Amino acid sequence: MRKKLLLFLLLSSGILLSSFSIKKDLKMINNDSTKDSTDVKVDSLLTIMTLEEKVGQMNQYNGFWDVTGPSPEGGNAEKKYDDLRKGRVGSMLTVRGTDQVRAVQKIVVEESRLGIPLIIGFDVIHGYKTLSPIPLAEAASWDLEAIKKSASVAAAEAAASGINWTFAPMVDISRDPRWGRVMEGAGEDPFLGSAIARARVRGFQGDDLSAVNTIAATAKHFAAYGFAEAGREYNKADIGTVTLHNIVLPPFKAAEEAGVKTFMNGFNELNGIPVTGNEFLLGDILKEKWNFEGFVISDWASIGEMVTHGYAKDMAHAAEIAVKAGVDMDMESSSYVDELVELVKAGHVDEALVDDAVRRILRVKFELGLFDDPYKYCDPEREETVIGSKENQEAVLDIAKKSIVLLKNENNLLPLKKTGQRIAVIGPLADDNNSVLGSWRIASEDNSGISILEGLKQYSGNELLFEKGAELLTKKPTFINELEFNTTDKSGFEKAITVAKNSDVVILVLGEHGFQSGEGRSRTALDLPGIQQELMEKIYEANKNVILVLNNGRPLVLNWASENIPAIVEAWHLGTQTGNAVAQVLYGDYNPSGKLPMTFPRSVGQIPIYYNHKNTGRPVDPQPGDNMVFWSHYIDEESSPLYPFGFGLSYTSFNYSNLKVENSFAVNEEVKVSVELSNTGDYDGKEVVQLYIRDLFAKVVRPVRELKGFQLVELKKGESKTVNFSLTEKELGYYDQNGDFIVEPGDFEIFVGTNSNASLKTTFSLQQ
Ligand code: NOJ
Repeated sequence: MRKKLLLFLLLSSGILLSSFSIKKDLKMINNDSTKDSTDVKVDSLLTIMTLEEKVGQMNQYNGFWDVTGPSPEGGNAEKKYDDLRKGRVGSMLTVRGTDQVRAVQKIVVEESRLGIPLIIGFDVIHGYKTLSPIPLAEAASWDLEAIKKSASVAAAEAAASGINWTFAPMVDISRDPRWGRVMEGAGEDPFLGSAIARARVRGFQGDDLSAVNTIAATAKHFAAYGFAEAGREYNKADIGTVTLHNIVLPPFKAAEEAGVKTFMNGFNELNGIPVTGNEFLLGDILKEKWNFEGFVISDWASIGEMVTHGYAKDMAHAAEIAVKAGVDMDMESSSYVDELVELVKAGHVDEALVDDAVRRILRVKFELGLFDDPYKYCDPEREETVIGSKENQEAVLDIAKKSIVLLKNENNLLPLKKTGQRIAVIGPLADDNNSVLGSWRIASEDNSGISILEGLKQYSGNELLFEKGAELLTKKPTFINELEFNTTDKSGFEKAITVAKNSDVVILVLGEHGFQSGEGRSRTALDLPGIQQELMEKIYEANKNVILVLNNGRPLVLNWASENIPAIVEAWHLGTQTGNAVAQVLYGDYNPSGKLPMTFPRSVGQIPIYYNHKNTGRPVDPQPGDNMVFWSHYIDEESSPLYPFGFGLSYTSFNYSNLKVENSFAVNEEVKVSVELSNTGDYDGKEVVQLYIRDLFAKVVRPVRELKGFQLVELKKGESKTVNFSLTEKELGYYDQNGDFIVEPGDFEIFVGTNSNASLKTTFSLQQ
C-alpha cells in the first residue's frame, strides 16, 4: 500500500509540474487517512522535493526587525524575500505578531513551488510580553509547578502572536557568575537543572504540540557553553569526560527525555572542537545514544564561525562539517542554502544526510499542525485576548514572589509594618520599570514592569519618601549595546542621605541593570556597579535600619553588605510584576521561600566556586592546631562561599530532626529516607527540604555533596511533618570516564537540611 502511494507521488511529481498541482499533492499527503503516521507523510513529501527545496528547509533566516546577533541586515532583505519565494527558507526567527507572521507565511505558502509552511522561531526566554522572572530567579523558587506554569504562559502568549518555537530552555550548567548568561539558566546544579529542564519543556510544549497555546522548545546550548573559560562570553570550554557526563549533559538528557523537539548547539568549542561541528556530541551522544528524533539548529551564524575558530577552511567546508556532525538547520549563516546543494552534487555530502535533516524538520512542522493550517497561529483576536491577560499577570506574579530569596534578616527587621512608618526608598533601580524586566525580552514593551516603588505604594499606608541617590547609567540602555555606568556624578547623594536620616527604615534598591547580564555581558568584577557601594555606605551611616533589595542577574560579591546591612533581599530581575512581588514579600503577605540556585562567592578569585566540589587529598578543614599552609585553601580569603547553594531564609524558622534510613540496601533496592520538619517560628511558611548524598569512595572520585532530592513543604506555625525521600540507582549511580552509567556498592552519607551545608547526617551502605 505504502509503495503504491509513493509510486503515485513519484509519478505525480514528475508529471504535474505546476505549482497548483504540487500543492494539491501536498494537501493530499497531509489529509490522506491511509498515511496514519507523521513519518509516512514526511517520507511522501520528501519524494516530491528537489534537492534545492530540501536544503531550503534547512535554512533559517532572521526576520527584518529585531536582531539578536551581528548580522548583515538591510541589504539582505531583498535576497531573503527572494529565497522565501523560491522555497529556499524553512524557518524564520524573530518575526513576531500575527500580521507579520501571516505575511511571511503567505509568501512561502502561495508563492513557493511546494508551499511548505515556515516554522517561526523566537527567543521566548522568560515570557513573551508578560514577563516572568529571569530563568535563574525562577530556579530560585525550586517550584517545578510554578516554573512549568510560567513556561506555559510564555508559550501561550508567543503562540498567540504567531510563534511556533522557542529557543528555550537554556539548560547550560554554569559555575561561573562572571558569565553573563547565568541569568538564562537554572544555576550550577545538574539535579536541580534537570528537574527544571523537564518542567520548562513540559510547560512550553504541553501535552499537544498542535494546540494553539503550545510551542516547540529547544534545549540549548549543546554543550558546555556554560563552562566558557574565565567566564568570558563565547570562550572555549576545556572539560574532562567525567564533568561532561555528570554535570553538563544531565539537563540536556532530561530535556530530551521530556520530549523536547529541538536542540541548539553552542558557539563554543569543547576540548578543541567547535560544538557546531562536534560529531561526538551531536551524532554519537544526542542522535545515537539518546536516540533524539527532533532536529538540531545551529546557534546564530555558528556554522560560519567555525571558519573564524580556525576549524573550517571556508564556508563550504563549515557547512560540510556541520551537516556531517548532525546540525539540521542553519541559523542565519546562509552556509547551507549557499553551499549544500553543490556539496551534495560534488559527492562531498551524502544526500541521505540532507534527507535525514529534512525529515526531522518536517516532522516537527507536521506535529505543530502547520500543514493543516499554516495560519493557525495567526488569529489577531486570540492575540488580543491572550497577551497580557489577567490570568497571565497572576501567574507571573506568583512565580515572582516564589523566586525571591531572603539572604539576611537581623533582628527581624522584616516583614515591615504596613502602617505608621516613614520609609525612605532609595537607589537608582527603585523606580525603574525597565530594568526589572531583566535581559532577554525582545517582544515585551520597554518600561512595562511594575517598579519596586510602584509596588510598595500599592501595598501599604506608610509614608514613602523616594530619592534616587544616583543614576546607575549615563545613557539609555538597550539589549544590544554596551552600557555606560555613572562613576562620578554623586550630586544626588545629599538628598538621599537626608531622607534616610528622617525615616524609620530605608529600602535601598541596588544591583545590576537588567541589561547588565545576558549574552555578551561577562564581568570581571561582581560588586555593585557604578557608585552604588559608596551610596550604600553613606546611607547606612545615616540610618542603620537598611533593607537592601538586590536586582541582579547573577551572584554578586556582597561582603560589606552581608556584614553590615541588617536585611538583604535577593530580588533578581523579576519581570513584569516585580514591584508587586517585592512589596508582598517586604510586607509579609508572602513569606519568602526561595533558595539560591548558585553559590554567592566572597571574592571573584574563588570562581569557579560550587557546592559539589571535590574533597582533594588535602581538604579545606585543617587539623586543629595545625599551622602549616599545605592544604587546599587561599591565604587571603576563606574557601567557603558567602552564601552557599540552596541558601535562603524565611520569616519563620524550621527545625530538622530524626533523619532516618536503614543501614544497608541491595544495589537495586529503593533507599527510603525520612526526616522530621517542624515550623518553630512565628509565621506559616514554606521550606525547600534538600537532600544531599556523598558516595564515600568510588572508581571515580565523587563530589563532597550532590543534591539528589528536594521537596517544597508548607507548614503552619507550630506544625511538624515527616518528609520522605526515596533514592534509586538513578540517584546513587554516576557516569564514569567512558560515559557509562555505573552504580557501585559502598558507603554513602546522606545530609538533609535547609541548604547545601546541611549538618544533619546519616549513613547507609549499598551491597552487591
Ligand atoms: C544567540 C544565542 O546564543 C541563542 O541562545 C539565541 O537563541 C540566538 N542568538 C537567537 O537569538
